Amino acid sequence: MIQNSVPYKEKSIVFIGFMGSGKTTIGEAVAKKLYRDFIDIDQTIESEYGLSVTEIFNQYGEEEFREREKALIKKYSLHRLKVISVGGGAFLQEEIRNTCLENCIVFFLDLSWDSWKDRLDILVESRPVLQGRSIDDIRELFYNRKGIYALHNSKLNTDDLNVEEVSQYVIDSLKTSWELYN
Ligand code: S3P
Repeated sequence: MIQNSVPYKEKSIVFIGFMGSGKTTIGEAVAKKLYRDFIDIDQTIESEYGLSVTEIFNQYGEEEFREREKALIKKYSLHRLKVISVGGGAFLQEEIRNTCLENCIVFFLDLSWDSWKDRLDILVESRPVLQGRSIDDIRELFYNRKGIYALHNSKLNTDDLNVEEVSQYVIDSLKTSWELYN
């Protein structure tokens, strides 16, 4: 659990990126290829509460969700050999950024606004942060968030790539870094 003594190859991998950028799907695929456990922080919170993220926001408030998100990420980022997907707002919290960047390999799944905006309709119901916002507000949020995702170890633009292509790219890039830094 003391990360400085954890070999680079055993560090957990954290996926960051905007809502609906495929962090859960890619995280699961990468975990399977690496024979690692996969942890989705939003799903963990949802099962703890027995509620969806939208319901948690409505019943308990965003602040409580963010506290739980922080506590879980601080805990799991200290584990070895995991693949972790964190919500798109997690990196807004400095403590989360710090623990992930200090203890894990952080992978940013990027995509262009043009590719992302077509996903809005299927995302809005399950993403309280998008609800009640105009498309212009959402575009602004999308570009503002790029600033926090800029803090990463590795990045891939996923426009036009399928799940297999993205997960294979991630694995290849991890293998290269394991060879370089081991
Ligand atoms: C959020 C992103 C969501 C979820 C919550 C808040 C955000 O996760 O954590 O609705 O603020 O960007 P996904 O990025 O998995 O959609």
